[in-house]
Amino acid sequence: MYDPSQKRFEVPLSIDAPGVAAEDANYDVQFSSDSSHFQVKRKSTGTVLWDSPLVDLFFSNQYLQITTAVPSTSVYGFGEQEHVSFKHNMDFVTYGMFSRDQPPTPLANLYGVHPFYMCVEDDSNAHGVLLLNSNAQDVSLSPNPSLTFRTIGGILDFYVFLGPTPENVIQQYTEAIGRPHMPAYWSLGFHLSRWGYASLDVLKNTAKRMHHYDIPFDVQHFDIDYMDHRLDFTYDKTNYAGLPEYIKELKTAGMHSVIILDPFISKDEEPGTYRPYDLGQEMGVWINNSDGVTPAIGKSLPPGYSVFPDYTNPRTVEWWTQLCLEFKDVLDYDGIWIDMNEPSNDLTGQLPGCAANDINDPPYIPSITDHSLAQKTLCPDSRTYLGEHYNTHSLFGWSQTAPTFHVVQQATGKRAFVLSRSTFVGSGKHAGHWLGDNKSQWKDMHYSIIGMLEFNLFGIPFVGADICGFSSNTTYELCLRWMQLGSFYPFSRNHNAEGNAAQDPAVFGAEFAKIARATLRIRYSLLPYLYTLFFESHVHGNTVVRSLMHEFTSDQQTHGIDTAFLWGPAFMVAPVLQEATRSVDVYFPEATWFDYYTGRKIPSTWHKTYATVYAPLNKIPLFIRGGHILPEQAPASTTTKSRLNPFGLIIALDEHGEASGSLFWDDGDSIDTIENENYFLAKYTFSAGHLKTEILKNGYRGADSLKYNKITILGLKLRPHAVAVNGGAVRRDAFSYELNGKLVLGISAPLTHELNLAIY
Ligand code: NOJ
Repeated sequence: MYDPSQKRFEVPLSIDAPGVAAEDANYDVQFSSDSSHFQVKRKSTGTVLWDSPLVDLFFSNQYLQITTAVPSTSVYGFGEQEHVSFKHNMDFVTYGMFSRDQPPTPLANLYGVHPFYMCVEDDSNAHGVLLLNSNAQDVSLSPNPSLTFRTIGGILDFYVFLGPTPENVIQQYTEAIGRPHMPAYWSLGFHLSRWGYASLDVLKNTAKRMHHYDIPFDVQHFDIDYMDHRLDFTYDKTNYAGLPEYIKELKTAGMHSVIILDPFISKDEEPGTYRPYDLGQEMGVWINNSDGVTPAIGKSLPPGYSVFPDYTNPRTVEWWTQLCLEFKDVLDYDGIWIDMNEPSNDLTGQLPGCAANDINDPPYIPSITDHSLAQKTLCPDSRTYLGEHYNTHSLFGWSQTAPTFHVVQQATGKRAFVLSRSTFVGSGKHAGHWLGDNKSQWKDMHYSIIGMLEFNLFGIPFVGADICGFSSNTTYELCLRWMQLGSFYPFSRNHNAEGNAAQDPAVFGAEFAKIARATLRIRYSLLPYLYTLFFESHVHGNTVVRSLMHEFTSDQQTHGIDTAFLWGPAFMVAPVLQEATRSVDVYFPEATWFDYYTGRKIPSTWHKTYATVYAPLNKIPLFIRGGHILPEQAPASTTTKSRLNPFGLIIALDEHGEASGSLFWDDGDSIDTIENENYFLAKYTFSAGHLKTEILKNGYRGADSLKYNKITILGLKLRPHAVAVNGGAVRRDAFSYELNGKLVLGISAPLTHELNLAIY
């Protein structure tokens, strides 16, 4: 049944789309001549991107369905799921989407909802499609190839992004849903976390051994064990006595602190003793039962029973803002980690259980775990400010994210760090994400690459998985390989569950620590490049981490690769993903590639094939792509220190002896430096033996004291006779040339002046 008089739920996300007149559009929308099909065609090629047989269109109050043929089987996206391959298997698989507190398990619906996919057409053009719908839903992929979407509410609100490159698709998608936020520089450093340090002393000892081995370490996370009885906005004055002072100490040492907050507020504390509840009660900020008046009561981490803040309500935002601001005076945090915001609940629905009605028991339940809308959360007929939980359930984490981002900015006066477990379309504007409660097993390490690539499609590029695995005990070798891979997650954090053996990179002894230190120092040295990629992502919507398919789309062999990935266009990471393995089979698409460690050029006989690359325990294979210039900076134990160090440029030449790149630099943590033009942006081009620098913006005076001290050129064909920097000859003893075409120059030149270099 469909009742047209009833207003249907629509996701309150305003989509920014440039208006185009029909004749200027690069697509045509048409009905087939017999009106049985609805199609979207790419004008330039005639490829049909969307083709829906109208006979398959269903529209009833609680069931909407639409099917479309897709032009190829190179389909990517749909989340949040743990996918076992980046390119989907189209053999009749169904993915459910409904946010759920669910550890990653193939085919299960996980924490967030992203009904977005990208498809690469046979001629290598790419397009993306979003179904902006927050109701429980699923999508079936079949080998026609086709997709069938089913949702149990809202509207069929589709957006098509025409690309034509995969990067263009994501740029257009993030233009529509909101560009990713610009992360603080410190948050690109290494984060250490665990649930269950048990006491501040244990945590301090862990930090001490990190410092003992001089492992780069910027951020300490505080999981729920810092709280008093797991109550938000409290800390444990026994086991964590001295926590406020310790957080100050970290700050003095140039480090940063992130505290966790859960969305459950205990209602069972002594009246008058727990302000978050008392104030919330007074302000009326909770999700209510179906009566719209009495608060929904569930059970989770705090003792007793809890209520759930309704972040879709402006009053709740006021309440949350006030509490987060007040708590800043207790714990001087730099960022907030919002967990369990699916929202999670130990009960199936709130007390006393869900009533029997069509909302709680809809006629069709999508393919979600346990086929229950209430399991591990609230009853669908609960009331939120925006409407029934039935419609808003998967928006819970999303609605908590922007207010948390804004209050962290307000509290710290700096750029916000917010890490959210549950995400929805557009969450990247305000938060990063970790891939949830993975396990310490080798296959989870592989799947983390897929998750990371997918979240880059979803416009949430600041993403990573728990390094070394969250649940169960890790092993020396797994953790070592995972530290190597995780050193190249955009969000790099080692995190562990309560009860497991410690797995911080300093706990396994000197040899492990040495390797972890060396790999993290590579990360730290390339942070200027990573930060510049985040700038591109924030301003233009580019992905930060991308698959080989993104850059080499016309090479079909790249379409299924998810064991290696790229930072931007130019830096390939090919981790070891199997136990007792000392080599990796790496696919080298047609391009010039250099081994990061030696600067040696990869032989062209390896192009378009898999080559076996040696990877002893102390090494993760890394490659630089010719044609690109990567800015680097000498590493240090924190980014606070490394940011003062001299810069370098790695100039990796292509087959024509050319390369280009850029550097974005600002103070790293002020709000809106781009909008306020307080930044430095340089574009470098190398050709015919000359490096030229174009300074596009020179608005950050903090960069004036910084210098370049090293230029590395890879791929030179001949030994140079002489080198000049800014018109002056470089002394012979300041440069070294290796026979593999690598030239390293020691120089001293100011960062904010044009750098010109000539090789003769
Ligand atoms: C679940 C989160 O996913 C995990 O990272 C965290 O450690 C626990 N909750 C405890 O807060």
